[in-house]
Amino acid sequence: MGTMNWGIFWAFSLQNAIDAVPGESPLFVDYPGKKTPLAKEYLRVIPATGSGPTGKDDLLFQNLLAAEWAIYSFYQIGVESFTPSNFTRLGWPKSTYDRMVQIRDNEAGHVRIFQEQISNNSIKPGPCKYEYGFGGNPKSWLVLQTYLEVASMAFLTGLSNQADLNVSKSALMAIGQVESRHNAWSLIDVWNTSPFSGPSDTIYPYANQILDLTNNFIVSDSCPSENPVYPSPRQNLPQIEFYSNGTTARPGSDLQFAYKDPKNVPTFNDDKEYWAVFYHGVQKESVRYNPKENRVRIPPFDLDSGIIIVNIAEEKGAPTEDSVVAGPLIILEQPGILTKDISSV
Ligand SMILES: *[C@@H]1O[C@H](CO)[C@@H](O)[C@H](O)[C@H]1NC(C)=O
Ligand SMILES: *[C@@H]1O[C@H](CO)[C@@H](O)[C@H](O)[C@H]1NC(C)=O
Ligand SMILES: *[C@@H]1O[C@H](CO)[C@@H](O)[C@H](O)[C@H]1NC(C)=O
Ligand SMILES: *[C@@H]1O[C@H](CO)[C@@H](O)[C@H](O)[C@H]1NC(C)=O
Repeated sequence: MGTMNWGIFWAFSLQNAIDAVPGESPLFVDYPGKKTPLAKEYLRVIPATGSGPTGKDDLLFQNLLAAEWAIYSFYQIGVESFTPSNFTRLGWPKSTYDRMVQIRDNEAGHVRIFQEQISNNSIKPGPCKYEYGFGGNPKSWLVLQTYLEVASMAFLTGLSNQADLNVSKSALMAIGQVESRHNAWSLIDVWNTSPFSGPSDTIYPYANQILDLTNNFIVSDSCPSENPVYPSPRQNLPQIEFYSNGTTARPGSDLQFAYKDPKNVPTFNDDKEYWAVFYHGVQKESVRYNPKENRVRIPPFDLDSGIIIVNIAEEKGAPTEDSVVAGPLIILEQPGILTKDISSV
């Protein structure tokens, strides 16, 4: 572009955002503005325009698009809330704000990709209002960023089990790779730690249960009324946190569970056996769980890598989605300094 004025270039690009295609537009790569790169036509529910057969993976991509709105909005709100100096003043590298903006661009590209993956015979869900609880604090935003990126990997790997079309499976894998790079960036540049999470990221079989956790960020009754139930199907399981006293929340340490919503707690049957099922990498370990003691030891997984996911199930190994009675809980193990910053009370 040589002598071209970049301000004019980006203003022109934004004006033409309606035609912007991910993979062909810099708006989804390195557009630096505070204003969203998404044209307003895409920032809403897009009704079905046909009544023919729906696409085989429409439901999957409707769920994923609804999740993406929560993730894209997290970045967009971050971009609008902060300035570069908010991060450098606290000692983070000069590039921190730019990376946040670029990830926002990528996530806006994901919105467009998922909208396109849904056939015209199905509704494309629109954004709700979100509240992330970082309270304008740059560090809290960075902590949540790390958590959201690893949570995305966990639901993307799970969603690939639901995909009908091979091309959908490949798309999920390609998107997961990008989320992983976002995570590697934060591990290296933000937390100054190893970018590697061991031989495998953590897989969790029931993706909709992970997606359901993102409902925590949605302001009540703020979704467009046309939006389908999210996620669909939704179990609305009791959500788990852990008590941060008396535990490191690392492998080998004891955990005590707390329930996030006192109105949504599991009913334990005295005659039944329960299990805490732990997932790390491709490993799965079941530990007997006595609801009266409410104390389980985290299996001896490798330290300082990725995440540990745990649910409470009424069958060893949680062999079906319906056997899960509470959770899942995602425990961030890497970086270790953040393990108790999220999901604990
Ligand atoms: C962020 O930086 C702006 C100025 O660039 C300042 O007005 C604001 O108070 C800062 N916010 C925080 C949380 O430091
Ligand atoms: C779906 O609708 C969009 C917008 O109206 C249109 O550009 C596209 O060609 C349609 N796709 C199919 C497969 O009909
Ligand atoms: C998906 O890939 C598998 C394995 O290569 C192949 O057997 C199957 O026919 C493919 N399905 C479709 C719908 O292309
Ligand atoms: C942690 O705090 C909870 C709630 O106050 C309490 O019930 C529990 O006994 C404490 N656990 C330990 C190990 O101190």
